[in-house]
Amino acid sequence: MARKIIIDCDPGIDDSLAIMLALSMPDQIELLGITIAAGNSPVEMGYQNALKVLDFMGRLDVPVFMGADRPLRREFINALDTHGSDGLGESFLPETDPAKYVRQERSALEFMAETLRREPASLIALGPMTNIAMLAQKHPDAFDNIEELVSMGGSFRSHGNCSPVAEYNYWCDPDAASIVYEEMDRRKRLISMVGLDVTRRIVLTPDLLAYFKRLDHRIGGFIEKITGFYLDFHWEWEHLIGCVINDPLAVACFADKDLCRGFTSYVQIETGGISIGQSVVDSMHFYRHSPNALVMTEVDTLAFFRLFFSSLLGVDKSELDLLPQLIRTDSRTIDD
Ligand code: BDR
Ligand code: CA
Repeated sequence: MARKIIIDCDPGIDDSLAIMLALSMPDQIELLGITIAAGNSPVEMGYQNALKVLDFMGRLDVPVFMGADRPLRREFINALDTHGSDGLGESFLPETDPAKYVRQERSALEFMAETLRREPASLIALGPMTNIAMLAQKHPDAFDNIEELVSMGGSFRSHGNCSPVAEYNYWCDPDAASIVYEEMDRRKRLISMVGLDVTRRIVLTPDLLAYFKRLDHRIGGFIEKITGFYLDFHWEWEHLIGCVINDPLAVACFADKDLCRGFTSYVQIETGGISIGQSVVDSMHFYRHSPNALVMTEVDTLAFFRLFFSSLLGVDKSELDLLPQLIRTDSRTIDD
């Protein structure tokens, strides 16, 4: 039976791919709604981008809710340098016709609280965790009802992407991330931390894009349109031909528990100083503290792309005969 989820995100190029993936797995995932936080793009832009993606997928029935417009305490720093001035790789897709969807009056926080009070559901966090921290603080009973919490964020051994040690989602709102890890700790629950150690292994290359387009020109063309800017960015900063698509891995990990492997550990998020936003993973058990996270360290890259392609294309994995030769399972970034 499909598991119910809420995606909390900041679209964002890779957030958009994650939403597309979630919608393409109806047997595993029922997407109850999408909540937006300020992150890659300002919140209103993220809201519009989510609608554009839903429109493209023909799924404007999925409600989108506006959330926090800034981090809890820190000054807001977006990532439009990475995602383009429109947050969608400067694809400049037209705004979705307001007649085609219902503009939700409830806030992201209200939607999360009401939904989780009514029924347990999982949360897949793909942006700064501002909305989720507010849920923990203002509606602890609803927070209790989170079935599984998967967070794309942080890093263990991999370097950061905003500072030597910090990943963007946690760096953008370190206070929120810190609260969410603490609240999960208080409840003796585990966050699945899908951080840069594993997402850096998910490189969408021009070859993969070309293959996708051969199999489905419409969806492949859309992905190409929104990722072009991202590819240029990776070339400039990482000397990489391809782009790291972080967020879909969190959705894939949720759906297929064999895709990523890791270890459980106590994790805290640094909220100040030069390592602000760092996920401090106590892998050596210095603090003698019970774990609050499952820190992912290994991923089967080929299996991810099999899932990504087959779900979005609606074909059987066995039909993707060219994939193994196009995937660099040893994908390496500047990290290695
Ligand atoms: C994360 O930050 C954003 O730029 C991406 O959307 C992803 O969620 C990677 O650090
Ligand atoms: Ca994101």
